[in-house]
Amino acid sequence: MAQDDWREQKRRVWDALAPAWERHRVDFAERTRPVSEWLVEHLDARPGDVILELAAGTGETGFLVAPVLGHAGRLISTDLSPAMLQAARNSAAGRGVRNVEFRVADLLEIPLEDASVDGVLCRWGYQQVPDPGRALREAHRVLRRRRRICISVWADGSRNPLDAALTAALAEMDAPATRRPAPYSAPVPALETAEEVGMMLCEADLVDVLVQEHDLRWRFADGADLWAFVSDLFGGAAMRIAALEPADRATVHESLVAALAGFRTEHGGYDVPALCLNATAACP
Ligand SMILES: C[S@@+](CC[C@H](N)C(=O)[O-])C[C@H]1O[C@@H](n2cnc3c(N)ncnc32)[C@H](O)[C@@H]1O
Repeated sequence: MAQDDWREQKRRVWDALAPAWERHRVDFAERTRPVSEWLVEHLDARPGDVILELAAGTGETGFLVAPVLGHAGRLISTDLSPAMLQAARNSAAGRGVRNVEFRVADLLEIPLEDASVDGVLCRWGYQQVPDPGRALREAHRVLRRRRRICISVWADGSRNPLDAALTAALAEMDAPATRRPAPYSAPVPALETAEEVGMMLCEADLVDVLVQEHDLRWRFADGADLWAFVSDLFGGAAMRIAALEPADRATVHESLVAALAGFRTEHGGYDVPALCLNATAACP
């Protein structure tokens, strides 16, 4: 697929999902806060720094570092989706974050000069692009010497049962007899093990590489709560669910909760483990 088509497709997906991300913003930020805190802690940001957040979504990770930067410093919060950026703007206004500017930016073509930022943050963005190695080299380009990039990506499906169960449930809808095009999926190369992440950071000529596994739990009150979470927030999968006929949607829902039966709690809820890979590296 041509790069512009691919980019437009992604932008459409995330623009469409932005209202739901805004609706779930506070809850999602709370659930995932330890990952953001890890990234911010390893960034080594200082007063007066310019920090770039890529694929910021509703912007919550960057907003944690903004107070450290002070009036002399600046957070540049970026995303491919203008609607996501608007959600981030709304959040910043609500939280009183003032030392931030918002820009539409693609991970693959950052609209900033070489060596112009003191740190780069990106939580769950690098698996969105077809060439994460190129995207990391682009981040390296804008980073000043000796300053750090901190990223998080999702580990493979064997360590993320919710993701794996959803992918499998949707794949049933793509059985040959009923196969329909999957207009919202884009090929994402593997960046799913600590070795792959470490290697890709090294290949982007970054140094002082550290990759750590980070456990999370997805906890839901019941099946409806779980379904609302994935069908509202899970990127291309959420778009595919929205495009299904009601009967097919119900089938996917049933397959998903059946596959996750082993994670039921005694109160009828779900407690599903998840694993992401947090990494940090420096510009030499
Ligand atoms: C899974 S969400 C993560 C959002 C946020 N970083 C977080 O952790 O909550 C992925 C984000 O990547 C953005 N995105 C997708 N492709 C992108 C690209 N090529 N360049 C920049 N952002 C992109 C989407 O618009 C979306 O906001």
